Amino acid sequence: MTDTAVAASVPSEANKENSVAKAKKSMAGYQVPWVEKYRPRVLEDVVGNEETVSRLRAISRTGNLPNLILAGPPGTGKTTSVHALARQLLGASYKDAVLELNASDARGIDVVRNRIKSFAMNKVTLPPGRHKIIILDEADSMTSAAQQALRRTMELYSNTTRFCLACNVSTKIIEAIQSRAAILRYSRLANEQVLTCLLKVCQAESISYTNDALEAILFTAEGDMRHALNNLQASYFLTNGIISQTSVFKVCDQPHPKTVGQIISHCTKGDTKAACDQMQALWKSGYSTNDIIGTVFKVVKAHGELPEALKLEYLREIGFTQMRISDGVNSPLQLLGLLARLAQKMQQT
Ligand SMILES: Nc1ncnc2c1ncn2[C@@H]1O[C@H](COP(=O)(O)OP(=O)(O)OP(=O)(O)O)[C@@H](O)[C@H]1O
Ligand SMILES: [Mg+2]
Repeated sequence: MTDTAVAASVPSEANKENSVAKAKKSMAGYQVPWVEKYRPRVLEDVVGNEETVSRLRAISRTGNLPNLILAGPPGTGKTTSVHALARQLLGASYKDAVLELNASDARGIDVVRNRIKSFAMNKVTLPPGRHKIIILDEADSMTSAAQQALRRTMELYSNTTRFCLACNVSTKIIEAIQSRAAILRYSRLANEQVLTCLLKVCQAESISYTNDALEAILFTAEGDMRHALNNLQASYFLTNGIISQTSVFKVCDQPHPKTVGQIISHCTKGDTKAACDQMQALWKSGYSTNDIIGTVFKVVKAHGELPEALKLEYLREIGFTQMRISDGVNSPLQLLGLLARLAQKMQQT
């Protein structure tokens, strides 16, 4: 082989750099979801629900782990906390000593009889005073027969294994299991807590944003951190520049609160016609009555200028309308009727 042929067959430094650049370019479109990228690995990074998280931290320090049920609304950090706790308790043994089953796995009675039982019987070398952990995520979707089958298993292997159940509604866990476990409750995160997290992510990803865009994300997320981070990421990809309020509402596909705010202010001025016209325009733009009534509720709740007594009256009326709509009477007439009643309330006061 001549020298030139060898040179052609061996990739030169320049060629290598070229292919790396190409690979990077093709990866540029691919992004790990931020909810996973920024999922806290340790309990110290879990935001909010201080009391619950401090109890978990105490458990991770002492190693004194009871059977646990973590209950609360979606996106508040239950799965995150339970994994962080297991990681902090078990260290290097985390891989071997944790069995996670979630709603995507079959969790019928057979799985409890075979998989869970055989994992509980397995021998794993652990640091002294530590237990194997079985995480049953979204446990409220387990059939009650499977839950019944867990009762005795939980007791039989209590000297080697602990169960951590995460669920949205604790009442869907049968009482017998509730009585065998300590229940820790999570509540929706406060807007400030979600905001600190959003700001951290914006800084880490060097994102430019306007303040009202972040406000809009908080408004739509309602204390659900997962929702907030997903909306932030989606808005970022939509705008590819500065995240603005409009892009956030476009992504979330919710009626703009400003429009809804205008409709409410027409009502407070007693101008039913203007309110109805604007509402009809909103409805014709494609939003369902359910979307609209949800935003009307949130806007009135956050309204700073309505007198307190009137606000309560308004919320009551909106509640009744929402009830009718969820009963199936979801025609726009319901919304227009609501506006007429709201305008009437203003005249009565
Ligand atoms: N308290 C929190 N602190 C920081 N990040 C959070 C918190 N809660 C949720 N997150 C973010 O939201 C994502 C989803 O959280 P997680 O899976 O823990 O929710 P969950 O409470 O288990 O919800 P679900 O009930 O739907 O399972 C995490 O990856 C994390 O990025
Ligand atoms: Mg979860």
